Amino acid sequence: MKRVALLAAPLLLGTSAVFAASADACLNCHEPDELKGVTAEDIAKSLADPDNRSHRRVRDLTAEDIEAILKELESG
Ligand code: HEC
Repeated sequence: MKRVALLAAPLLLGTSAVFAASADACLNCHEPDELKGVTAEDIAKSLADPDNRSHRRVRDLTAEDIEAILKELESG
């Protein structure tokens, strides 16, 4: 049983990380340069925009997720 738990843990972490806070999710559609100057507020507004159907999959990001994405964009 211990083995199973050890194997499952990274899987669970992995799936939530993909969704939670990865700039990769944004870079499928955006150039890194395109997102360099934007603020967390810009992003939150754009993700909440019901007219942007492309953002349907990233609509549920929290403020923390957005902060993490911004950090990732800055460092990358
Ligand atoms: C499936 C494709 C797709 C994904 C994934 C996506 N976007 Fe977008 N995004 C778009 C499209 C299309 C627009 C509208 C572009 C336009 O109107 O010029 C847009 C617009 C934006 C805008 C507004 C830009 C502007 O100049 O008004 C921001 C900010 C933005 N996206 C940030 C993000 C962030 C951050 C993520 C990741 C959490 C993300 N997007 C993920 C397709 C996507």
